[in-house]
Amino acid sequence: MSLIEDAATVRLNAHAPYSGFKVGAALRSVEGRTHLGCNVENVAYPEGTCAEAGAIAAMIAAGDKRIAEVAVIADSPAPVPPCGGCRQKLAEFAAGDVVVTLATTRGATLVTTVAELLPGAFDAGFMDAPER
Ligand code: THU
Repeated sequence: MSLIEDAATVRLNAHAPYSGFKVGAALRSVEGRTHLGCNVENVAYPEGTCAEAGAIAAMIAAGDKRIAEVAVIADSPAPVPPCGGCRQKLAEFAAGDVVVTLATTRGATLVTTVAELLPGAFDAGFMDAPER
């Protein structure tokens, strides 16, 4: 199964009663395994989590360390861009050239990269200082 197909399958499990907007994410780790996530909303709205965050949590919980490729899918008029927070979360575990495929359930795709999604990313290099 392709990563987009995996994302489409897990999307069906999303808990999105408030927005009605189900999102699925699948990532392949550098270690070679696939990890899945879907959005999980909460009646206290800010406590909801995005599909990408779920897939990253699953990867870390499974013991893998780095992301090799990502796919995200939703039933949207155009391929859904990850939110700002998820871009930062992806950048924590993925090199800039990691491919992110954004897809719609209607068949459209947009292929981009982590660096394109988050130009000028804050990373650990910015914390280099002589006194630390
Ligand atoms: N959402 C995701 O899970 N990933 C995205 O890339 C965009 C937004 C979710 C969060 C919320 O549950 C719903 O979509 C509407 O914002």
